[in-house]
Amino acid sequence: MGLFGLAKSKKIKPAKGVTGSVQLPGDKSISHRYAMLGAIAEGRSEIHFFSPSADCQSTLTCLSKLGVDIQRKDNAVTVQGLGLHGLRPPREVLDAGNSGSTMRMLAGILAGHAFRSVLSGDASLSRRPMQRIIDPLTRMGARIQSTEGARPPLEIEGGALQPIRYELPVASAQVKSAVLFAGLYGEGKTEVVEQVATRDHTEIALEQMGVEIGRHGHTISVRGPARLEGKTTHVPGDISSAAFFLAAALLVPESNLVIQNVGLNPTRTAVLDVLASMGGDIRVLNVEMLHGELIGDVRVGSSRLEGDEIPAALIPRLIDELPVLAVVGTQTEKGLSFRGAGELRVKESDRLESIAKNLRRMGAEVEELRDGLRVAGRQALCGAEIDSYGDHRIAMAFAVGGLVAQGTTLIRGGDCVDVSFPGFFNQLGRVTD
Ligand code: S3P
Repeated sequence: MGLFGLAKSKKIKPAKGVTGSVQLPGDKSISHRYAMLGAIAEGRSEIHFFSPSADCQSTLTCLSKLGVDIQRKDNAVTVQGLGLHGLRPPREVLDAGNSGSTMRMLAGILAGHAFRSVLSGDASLSRRPMQRIIDPLTRMGARIQSTEGARPPLEIEGGALQPIRYELPVASAQVKSAVLFAGLYGEGKTEVVEQVATRDHTEIALEQMGVEIGRHGHTISVRGPARLEGKTTHVPGDISSAAFFLAAALLVPESNLVIQNVGLNPTRTAVLDVLASMGGDIRVLNVEMLHGELIGDVRVGSSRLEGDEIPAALIPRLIDELPVLAVVGTQTEKGLSFRGAGELRVKESDRLESIAKNLRRMGAEVEELRDGLRVAGRQALCGAEIDSYGDHRIAMAFAVGGLVAQGTTLIRGGDCVDVSFPGFFNQLGRVTD
């Protein structure tokens, strides 16, 4: 057994192999969207394999406070839709916890409701930039107040919205979604223009719920006022959670792992492309289409990885996988580098800094750039005390590092994995020896 838990900190020991099979939690991005859209649809939505993450629970809790009847049983969530304008004024602050997706995307829906609401978050979310949604949503007619520097909490007063054509200044699926959600309420056609394609779960979910979406090149459009129909859906496993197991199985010798029911939406699979192009033994099996999303199993075995520079154009398609890719980089032949990832500085932690500091704690050489990292290859990692900085993806990335390090690694604040993947350490323990 490669690891055992301590209160709040998690201990990771070097592993000999990663074998067997893992079943991932439902995709976090897709779960948020179906819950929010189910709330403003007509009729009932059943969401199977809903993400067990704390982030998605934040979305459900906010929706409940907006008057939505939500039942949760095992991994299925039932949402009783209230119709496009049916949300009720909340009596309390809406707490988005650690979840940027909850705050930014729900703001798009609240912008279309003629009442006042306040969205707050934890210390990490309270540091994250919100100007990116305040700009388009106020242009559409919502009134939004924030604290200095456009940080949460956000006080939103919605109402009648104008459609807009909006060119995204940052590659962000959350911002795209907030504008498209608000566009459901506008009188006419709202267009969002992306510079680089980001995950398109919003477009797919809207189509699945009966809304016509225009997609022409990089322009996505929706016509309001829209009518959404409640939907029964099955959420694929989260490829961003799969990334940690992929990395572990590639790096640890004597590994052979099957990751089941992974979401394979092409806007999310760049992590597979990059690892396979570096020589990773990765096979995708049993692919099928489920409610507009591709899903399949991924088999992965230990591999010698060449290393590479990740092209900037791919960054939005693997933004959440960069922490673990940086750890993988230390074990490649030539190292791994990437630029064009300045967005990592405004995630749950400043991820460029969190990665660089923790890699150094493990004795690795890394160059921290303004918008990227350069990680040298063929580096022996030493067990160390890792600071998760309260960031789930940092905790999980360095748990993978611990499997290939010499000696024991301690992940401080490892409980934060619950934000996206409750049970991560147990699952990892089950497949490592
Ligand atoms: C997400 C989009 C990305 C990603 C986040 C989830 C989404 O954020 O990092 O974990 O569900 O749309 P940005 O939109 O800020 O890039």
